[in-house]
Amino acid sequence: IVLPPDLFAPQRRNSAGVDLSDPLVREPLLERLKALEARNWTAKPGLGKGEGRAIVSPHDHRITVGTTFEATTAEVDRMVHAAHAAQVGWDSLGGEARAQLLERAADLYEAHAEEFFSLCIREAGKTLVDAVLEVREAVDFLRFYASEARRQFTRPLPLPGPTGEQNELRLHGRGVIASISPWNFPLAIFTGLMSAPLAAGNAVIAKPAGQTPLIGALAVELMHQAGVPKDVVQLAPGSGRVVGGTLTAHPLLAGVVFTGSTETARMINRTLAERDGPIIPFVAETGGQNAMIVDSSALPEQVTRDVISSAFQSAGQRCSALRVLFVQEDVADGMIKMIAGAMEALKVGDPSDPATDVGPVIDQAAKKVLDDHLKWLDKNAKKICRLEPPKEAKNGCFVAPAFYEIKSLSQLDRENFGAILHVIRFAGDKLDEVVEAINTTGYGLTLGLQSRIDTVRDYVEKHARVGNLYVNRNQIGAVVESQPFGGEGLSGTGPKAGGPHYVARFATERVTCVDT
Ligand code: SER
Repeated sequence: IVLPPDLFAPQRRNSAGVDLSDPLVREPLLERLKALEARNWTAKPGLGKGEGRAIVSPHDHRITVGTTFEATTAEVDRMVHAAHAAQVGWDSLGGEARAQLLERAADLYEAHAEEFFSLCIREAGKTLVDAVLEVREAVDFLRFYASEARRQFTRPLPLPGPTGEQNELRLHGRGVIASISPWNFPLAIFTGLMSAPLAAGNAVIAKPAGQTPLIGALAVELMHQAGVPKDVVQLAPGSGRVVGGTLTAHPLLAGVVFTGSTETARMINRTLAERDGPIIPFVAETGGQNAMIVDSSALPEQVTRDVISSAFQSAGQRCSALRVLFVQEDVADGMIKMIAGAMEALKVGDPSDPATDVGPVIDQAAKKVLDDHLKWLDKNAKKICRLEPPKEAKNGCFVAPAFYEIKSLSQLDRENFGAILHVIRFAGDKLDEVVEAINTTGYGLTLGLQSRIDTVRDYVEKHARVGNLYVNRNQIGAVVESQPFGGEGLSGTGPKAGGPHYVARFATERVTCVDT
């Protein structure tokens, strides 16, 4: 049998990344990143007026990375009107032309990768490894959504015409989409939320998170350099209240795509319900209470490696990150000891040091929530391992990795968005109760399973209500197109980012019937 060559390989080019293990690559890169530290960055909405606000590094507040100017209500209104006027032209360009512009933007992102690395480290507190992954994912989103524009927006879909008529379905952009993104993937998610609606023929007002507008500003600038018209994609830095509130209440808005907390998603949903104008789509990817189940057939070394990266990479600030580890009681003591041992080897500190494994959390507010949870754990749980924040912690926001044993999942009433791992023991014959407890949280984003037993895997696959199940590996770092990402229940509305149904969600469907 000769299989078509495109069956396994994507049609698009994957982002190349950087081989940080090669000193001949890494050392000159670090020199260039050092030189980029002198750069002062700016984020401006449309007219760039208003009060400036300094953006400082999460790991050291004495470092100023740049200045952001925040959009006012009047400016947001002007931006939406300009976008609305420009959208029809963008839509009528068609899928092929839009795909080519998004691909040109992907090439520009790669050409400017080191500026993004520098910003990801300095503005968002990312380690160099995470900064490299961030740019790769953003580039993959651009190229994948470009291929989706080509697949679904270049020619009509012919439909059956049982009485001899000609029926065709076409997809078009809906209008102006508000794209509201989080600080934890200030480039990758920002780019995904901006480029999917663009691929579908919409204009986009892109609101970066308040903490990370400078990365968003560079991303939008490169979109403009690539040839996407300035009114078709516009940056709207500012607060959730002013920019988010004005955008989502705007009668000309045609849709909202959002990644962030479940509480904010509820707030947006309420605003959308009360606004004038048409009823519009709302795509939200929200929180999680992600678990990993480890049974006695799992390989301890592999579990240890996967738990460490799932729980502590990116300082635990991933929606996909592991929060609650369920370990079968027969193997729990040994497994817990190995994980705690591996934790001791983690280096917490300055993200610009390539030896750092765990950088800072994003800001003081995030740190306070995590510190309060640690205080609660000290009273109500058994401490297994808690690392010390580094010496420079006083100038930044650090919450070092911590590992506590609790009795049941119902003790945790919310997601703790940081490097805090909880472990719960379970009896070998109680797998069903574990899965039920996970489902009962109402969240359904990622789930890890470490088991060599097929019937265990079948059971979990069948009963766990989660968007992304990872078996015998870590549970972070979903790859665009290969592992479309997103959850269900309290974790989001779907469709999945980087998946085959995503771009079409931002389109409207029109059917033409011609009597022949
Ligand atoms: N998409 C990211 C991951 O899979 C999470 O936000 O880790």
